[in-house]
Amino acid sequence: MSKKGAFICIEGLDGCGKTTQAKLLAKKLGKSHSAVYTAEPSRGKIGTYIRKSYLYGEKRLSSVLEALLFAADRIEHVETEVLPALNEGRLVISDRYVYSSLAYQGAAGLSLEWIKKVNEHALQPDLAVFIDVNPNTVMSRLKPKKSVMENLETQQKVREIYLEFVEKGSLTRINGDKPQNEVAKEVYEVVTKFLNAPR
Ligand code: TYD
Repeated sequence: MSKKGAFICIEGLDGCGKTTQAKLLAKKLGKSHSAVYTAEPSRGKIGTYIRKSYLYGEKRLSSVLEALLFAADRIEHVETEVLPALNEGRLVISDRYVYSSLAYQGAAGLSLEWIKKVNEHALQPDLAVFIDVNPNTVMSRLKPKKSVMENLETQQKVREIYLEFVEKGSLTRINGDKPQNEVAKEVYEVVTKFLNAPR
């Protein structure tokens, strides 16, 4: 398997199990590579602001402000965590990345072109995986402390946008409506196939 670094992001609806899957993937890959798990919103100043002051608040910000905050956090995340790890030849597994902005802020009504534009300085991921779970299933799994994004209508719209990127070939879809270990196996297979291919 190639030992070159790579930037892989794991995407999906709230409650689809992507955090568990991204962490499992980093652990499994860690047996043969140096792999790091990271997430957005990030642990940086902007990501912390997003989580603490807004995500679990009463209502959503304007969609433009949301998109700009997530885009700013992304640049900080890339500069402080992703690039330094890639430069050391590590595999970086990010729990959410730019497709989250396209799907969530797109579902809030913004044009995908504009969202792409404000994210144009964010590093392109080498591989993006979408863990697809039925929106009704995720709604039944979510904790009482729901974020401002977590309602069925939003989750359905978000999924539709993710699926558009699957159709275009930029996201690799994995059926997440299966037992956790089977999903983990599929994620690992997709990622190792990518890492083994000539790059
Ligand atoms: P989530 O991965 O659920 O974080 P946590 O595990 O801390 O709950 O992400 C939080 C929310 O932020 C989620 O509802 C999706 C939303 N989000 C966006 O709307 N746009 C983005 O660009 C990102 C990264 C997240």
